[in-house]
Amino acid sequence: MKKAAIVVPTYNEAGTIETLIIDIFEQNKKTPNWELHIVVVDSDSEDKTQEIVTNLIKKYPRLHLIKTKKEGLGKAYIEGFTVSIEKLNPYLIFEMDADLSHDPASIPNFLHKIEKGADFVIGSRYIKGGSIPENWGIHRKILSVVGNLIIKVGFMKPRITDWTSGYRAIKSWIVKEASPHIKNYSGYVFQVAFLDYALKKHAIVAETPINFKDRNYGVSKLNSFQTIFQTLLYVFTNSSFVKFVIVGAIGFVIDFGIFYFLTKFAHLVSWKANLISTETAVLSNFMLNNFWSFAHKKVDHNKKSYIKGFFKFNLVSSGNIIIQTVGVEILKALFGIKLLYIYKVAVIVFIVIPYSYFFYNKVIWKHKR
Ligand code: GDD
Ligand code: MN
Repeated sequence: MKKAAIVVPTYNEAGTIETLIIDIFEQNKKTPNWELHIVVVDSDSEDKTQEIVTNLIKKYPRLHLIKTKKEGLGKAYIEGFTVSIEKLNPYLIFEMDADLSHDPASIPNFLHKIEKGADFVIGSRYIKGGSIPENWGIHRKILSVVGNLIIKVGFMKPRITDWTSGYRAIKSWIVKEASPHIKNYSGYVFQVAFLDYALKKHAIVAETPINFKDRNYGVSKLNSFQTIFQTLLYVFTNSSFVKFVIVGAIGFVIDFGIFYFLTKFAHLVSWKANLISTETAVLSNFMLNNFWSFAHKKVDHNKKSYIKGFFKFNLVSSGNIIIQTVGVEILKALFGIKLLYIYKVAVIVFIVIPYSYFFYNKVIWKHKR
């Protein structure tokens, strides 16, 4: 029998916590291979949350209560994870809200995905069979949908549909490995940071549909403004794609700057100047991408790997030059010479960027499992 600890953070959830606990233990009857524990992490609730849980512990020996200061959702979860691992050493850890938005009846579906080989199961509101409450205000719907879209594009992971979901099952080894990273995120952004880190560590991620229900008691603690800001900042500073675009822009400046200098002041003929400026930009792009954009999968630290990587990088970059030249010529033939710069930008945005991002990920900095 395997142990799973369901970590439930609470702040003033006296209206629902008892029902939730009873429902979860009820679900355990359907999952005989699993020993479910509940770890409530309460941050100094002003209502009767702690009292209710303390009383229920007498009846349920697998119910545990951790008391913390109010320092945000992320902090509460980290505390819950750490204590669960120390005290229970579970195989699996769940994240779950206390306000009955997350239906305990879905627990067996999560366990099923884990049994089939997943390391990290997301309860998704946005895949077939899942849903968000119909009566959610338009601003909350937009926030959730647009937020997920930005994160999806930023991390170039179109198959993950619900990045911010707070209903998840994660194998303990990932929780342990991720702790030093996610410790830095105390608010709701912690959810995004955790999933991003798991993906970078090659966790097998799966999704199971959930029907997110609106809370009937108490109030949401999510601060939209703060969460939007922190999430955008996280995506911007941690997305390989964003960094890759920045590196590309730096490369452009280097190429252009050196070319300008060599032709204007060093009086080099243009083909020589071009050769030097382009190759310098290619080298700087390779280094910046290797040690920054794709740092989590950088090439092995030895001369041979660097030379091999740099050679492949040059091949992909040559492809870039050909695509740009041919692309601009085709557009010129089709639509005339007037909009030359627009053609160049269009070719870069719609062909060169996707093309090189694809090859960088699949050939030069591919995942080693
Ligand atoms: N211990 C503790 N400390 N618990 C907290 C804190 C805190 O500072 N802040 C929130 N919680 C608890 C709540 O009591 C609840 O059980 C759970 O965390 C989720 O908080 P809600 O306030 O109900 O969040 P929500 O419904 O607006 O947000 C949901 O959607 C988000 C976006 O998809 C949650 O599922 C989030 O996890 C999710 O990121
Ligand atoms: Mn809620």
